[in-house]
Amino acid sequence: MSIKIPFLSKQVKETELEDWDNIPSHVAIIMDGNGRWAQRRGLPRIAGHREGVSTVNRIVKTAVNANVKVLTLYTFSTENWKRPKSEVDFILKLPKEFLHVYLPGLVENNVRVQTIGDFNAVPKHTQDAIEYAMEKTKDNDGLVLNFALNYGSRYEIIHAVKQIVQDTKASELDLEQLDESYFEKYLFTNGLSDPDLLIRTGGEYRLSNFMLWQLAYTEFWFTEKLWPEFDEDTFLQALMEYQQRKRRYGGI
Ligand code: FPP
Repeated sequence: MSIKIPFLSKQVKETELEDWDNIPSHVAIIMDGNGRWAQRRGLPRIAGHREGVSTVNRIVKTAVNANVKVLTLYTFSTENWKRPKSEVDFILKLPKEFLHVYLPGLVENNVRVQTIGDFNAVPKHTQDAIEYAMEKTKDNDGLVLNFALNYGSRYEIIHAVKQIVQDTKASELDLEQLDESYFEKYLFTNGLSDPDLLIRTGGEYRLSNFMLWQLAYTEFWFTEKLWPEFDEDTFLQALMEYQQRKRRYGGI
């Protein structure tokens, strides 16, 4: 089924974003609260994850409309394997379900799909669905839809350090060359700008091992709203509040 994403929906146009030039280029989201959303309705936790997929579609559309360049979604963390197997299996099927329904709309709207994380450890069907989407969208130059999948920031940093050691041993890297921008080439996010705005839903105020290096100068925005109820208006509210922030990067 092809989902059309109208360019600049009425709602976005009418929203009083202060400055269309000051849209956060990279927005990263910790999508929290699916389980609680379901439990409050007397439903199994997985019902919340399924509802969360609809929110992903809503927010991707809004990000396209608002001209965000990169949207990183924390889909599954390296710590999420601790959950019951049935829930893990369910979550890891969602990228395939999402792409089955929405990939044509993503292609049509110039979205490029990519991932960060230890992709090799996720089930083959998940890898196949994502690789197919990456291939289909590889020439698109609109929104980068970046799924953090089996992602953990400490793992990412250790992975980078191991590669640096290997490259040094193989004389492919001289340690004198290693500075912050060179180090970043070894991270999963190589080639992406750091997030300008981090949103966490679900009323929790922590980073949960998400993009610890990349969030050094990012603006944070939290909401009590649970991910399944996070909507276009709330996303736009986050963008508007971002526009009020004065970013100083350590200067004055
Ligand atoms: C956290 O909520 C959510 C997750 C660990 C899974 C996130 C996955 C989705 C939103 C669906 C992914 C969709 C696509 C298209 C890839 P929680 O279960 O920890 O909520 P709780 O804090 O209320 O228990």
